[in-house]
Amino acid sequence: MPILEIPDPALVVLVGAAGSGKSTLAARLFDADEVLSSDALREAVSGDAADQSASAMAFRILHRTLARRLGAGRLTVVDATNVRRVDRRSLLERARVAGVPAVAVVLDIDPVLIQARNASRPRVVDPTVVDRHSRAVRTTVDRGDLAAEGFLSVTILVGPGEVAGLAIVRRPAGLDRTGPDAL
Ligand code: UTP
Ligand code: MG
Repeated sequence: MPILEIPDPALVVLVGAAGSGKSTLAARLFDADEVLSSDALREAVSGDAADQSASAMAFRILHRTLARRLGAGRLTVVDATNVRRVDRRSLLERARVAGVPAVAVVLDIDPVLIQARNASRPRVVDPTVVDRHSRAVRTTVDRGDLAAEGFLSVTILVGPGEVAGLAIVRRPAGLDRTGPDAL
């Protein structure tokens, strides 16, 4: 897996089913304060990360915080499933307004592995919901939707090995990538 170059600042959108490993990946590659997590915000709002009735408020906070952070030139990772185009559009719109590029990182993991992980987690997500996520990821990848939506780069990580092996390098905005220090 080559090293993924991420402009800084950027909007980093993780795309993956519940249980695909988004939060694990985000925690490994980014500072905690750079990650906006829908689960963490639901937890903050209602005391329960799985409380779907807290979702609307959680995403209002997520979108507002994202706009503020990108406007201030801070790289921000959105740790939510982001499997629906409509969800990604809300994020891309904030990046466009802030004039910040958006990159997508897709966790394309075998649905059987995802269900096995889900079943052994402390917080089990309804398996039918997880399957819906997996189907949405499959369709999104197979149709090549993301590049057309406006992401500067789209990285598809196939299988847990590629997810675990991903490394990133940040390229501060404004640096000439063709210069003598180019990677
Ligand atoms: P995560 O909790 O990272 O998944 O991993 P997620 O995509 O963020 O899930 P949601 O959307 O918040 O629900 C899910 C489970 O898989 C394990 C983690 O320890 C966790 O129990 N996992 C993750 C692995 O076993 N291996 C990995 O490489 C990544
Ligand atoms: Mg998570």
